[in-house]
Amino acid sequence: MSKLLVINGSVIPSDKSNSHEMARVFLEEYKKVNPNDEIIELDLNKLVVGTNVLTTETFSTYWGEEEGMKYINQLKDVDKLLVIAPMYNFHVSGMLKNYIDHVALANQTFSYKYATKGASIGLLDKLKVQILATQGAPKGWYQWGDHVAYLKGTWEFMGAKVAEPILLAGVKVEPLSTQSPKEIVSSITSDLIAAAKKF
Ligand SMILES: Cc1cc2nc3c(=O)[nH]c(=O)nc-3n(C[C@H](O)[C@H](O)[C@H](O)COP(=O)(O)O)c2cc1C
Repeated sequence: MSKLLVINGSVIPSDKSNSHEMARVFLEEYKKVNPNDEIIELDLNKLVVGTNVLTTETFSTYWGEEEGMKYINQLKDVDKLLVIAPMYNFHVSGMLKNYIDHVALANQTFSYKYATKGASIGLLDKLKVQILATQGAPKGWYQWGDHVAYLKGTWEFMGAKVAEPILLAGVKVEPLSTQSPKEIVSSITSDLIAAAKKF
């Protein structure tokens, strides 16, 4: 039995959210293949770890037992992580960035200890990650914003094995912009099911 952590980094209510619909399809298949797994959900909208910004004021408590360390220990305890990640202003949501600011901690999730020539060692080396991403624009419209590459690189930096991310792009452009999340996501159902079976 494995433990799967699901992190919601979308600000859109679930019934109107494309990324939630992707996660729903993915998890439906995942549960068929792994009926005994424990699934833990973190809605960053409702948690301090998602809403607390790193500032001069918060710096001294940011990685305390009740905040950063709690979530770092959770990442060490689970086997798999599903990240729900829409693009907002060319990046992940502020909530997801806040979460990463809490868990990307030297000597906990990565280490420079054995580093040579600027390399580092990721310490989350038993974690598998699947990224489910959305964006309004078609893929490749922005050279200055690639939230999927940012996420993949960040989790790999922390030692995780990242499965091929699934990006649903162009949801704000016709024809997808006229469709419901269910209709939009139906165009990539087979990719989601294939990824869930392998995860
Ligand atoms: C505040 C806001 C900012 C957004 N910024 C971008 C953006 O910079 N680039 C882009 O392609 N889409 C952008 N979008 C579109 C969202 O990525 C897209 O609608 C996404 O599907 C919303 O989240 P959801 O997948 O949970 O529904 C933005 C949407 C919102 C609400």
